[in-house]
Amino acid sequence: MTLETPVFTAHQVEAVMASGGKNQGVRVSFPPKPLAAPMSRMFVTDVLQQWHLPDVVQDADAVVTELVSNAAAASAAAGTDVTVGLRVEQGSLFIEVGDQTETLPVLRYPTLEDPRGWGLFLVASMSQRWGTRQQIGGKIIWSELACA
Ligand SMILES: Nc1ncnc2c1ncn2[C@@H]1O[C@H](COP(=O)(O)OP(=O)(O)OP(=O)(O)O)[C@@H](O)[C@H]1O
Ligand SMILES: [Mg+2]
Repeated sequence: MTLETPVFTAHQVEAVMASGGKNQGVRVSFPPKPLAAPMSRMFVTDVLQQWHLPDVVQDADAVVTELVSNAAAASAAAGTDVTVGLRVEQGSLFIEVGDQTETLPVLRYPTLEDPRGWGLFLVASMSQRWGTRQQIGGKIIWSELACA
């Protein structure tokens, strides 16, 4: 499912939900625009509410915001979509953010002299585990959050 409009409606969420339960997972695509981050938060919030996992919404929103912001920035020049996948497995929520660029993320440690690098630092701090999975023509950066 690709979202072209800036509004993520309840109707679209229902369509996504019909495509798979929390163990099978769901995935949507967003154009690499600034709206991708707020749209991905709306998507994550809606899906997790429907999966009856309200306690993990706040952390999941923070993680998806950082991963999608990075993916959208990396994809802007090529104009390729960013994907957001959610899946639950054995008490963990897996957030998977994909893009079609091959440059790999770099975990930085932000300092006063060079304050960039909060995004992945935050993701690494909040996640039980996180990582990057390379794919043909791109990659997925994923985060695991406890959601039991
Ligand atoms: N999806 C991605 N594709 C390519 N490079 C990435 C991706 N995600 C992160 N990176 C690289 O990893 C670096 C660290 O990402 P991080 O989110 O920690 O910092 P930032 O985006 O530079 O700054 P901040 O998040 O603090 O605004 C980025 O500067 C970028 O070089
Ligand atoms: Mg960032």
